[in-house]
Order: sequence, then C-alpha cells, then structure tokens
Amino acid sequence: MERKEFLRSLGAGAAFALTFPCIHGCSKDEVDGNIVEEPTGVDFTVDLTSQEAQALVANGGFILKNLVVIAKNLEGNYVAASQVCSHESYDQVRFVNQDGGIFYCDVHGSRFAQNGTPLNQVDSKPAKTLKIYNTELEGSVLRIFE
Ligand code: FES
Repeated sequence: MERKEFLRSLGAGAAFALTFPCIHGCSKDEVDGNIVEEPTGVDFTVDLTSQEAQALVANGGFILKNLVVIAKNLEGNYVAASQVCSHESYDQVRFVNQDGGIFYCDVHGSRFAQNGTPLNQVDSKPAKTLKIYNTELEGSVLRIFE
C-alpha cells in the first residue's frame, strides 16, 4: 500500500495526527515563556508593604522578581525558588496551591516540593532539583538570598 493510500484509509483525522505529531508542543513558538539562565548571586529585598508585594498578603500568593518566585506558602511562611525551571530552563515556574503548595512549571508539567525536590519526571531524563533561595523577614522587609 502506498503511503498516500495508507493515510487515506486511516481517515483525515488520523492522517493529520500522523503527519503533524508536534502540533501541541514541539516548537518553542507554541510555549509561553523564554529559555533563560538561572539567576546567580541572588540577594535582594521586597518591602511587604509595597504595591509589588500585594500578592504576598494572602497565603498561597506569589510574586516574580529578578527571575525568582517568592511565595507565601499555605502555612504563611515565605519561600523562594528559581523562576527558571530545572527541566529545560523555561522561566515558567510558579507557586501553586496543590498538594500543600508546590512549585510548578506548566511548559512540560514539572512539579517540585518547596525544598526543590522534583515530584515527577516529565521525560526520560532524571528530574533535577529546582534552585531554592533563603528568605529572611525583618520587620516588613523580606530578604531573598543564596
Ligand atoms: S521547562 Fe519546565 S517542565 Fe520543562
């Protein structure tokens, strides 16, 4: 059977699926975010009374600053992780209210515990730890540092 005949015999939907298998995720153009370097030398502060920190008022909220995800976890403690995913370096890591609060990257679905430990494996490569930063609260100023 010729390839064309074979595809015709499968029907239009199956032929399309075989011909264009990457329609939902092989090209960077179809993914939100950018591939960037993990931040190094991190040491900055956030004034929790400022406008930029509004999302940190409630437990489970987070902000993005200097490629770091700064979150107030579900227990009310501040945690910080690299916004750059340890899987393929997309800047799409966020804090989500799942399983007690985790870091999550929606590009390929990597999930990380608050200490950076991978919670799943999204391809054949071993999942790598997500970079976690220290936090220190002094008055209303939160310091994020390595
Ligand atoms: S880059 Fe984050 S899951 Fe692949």
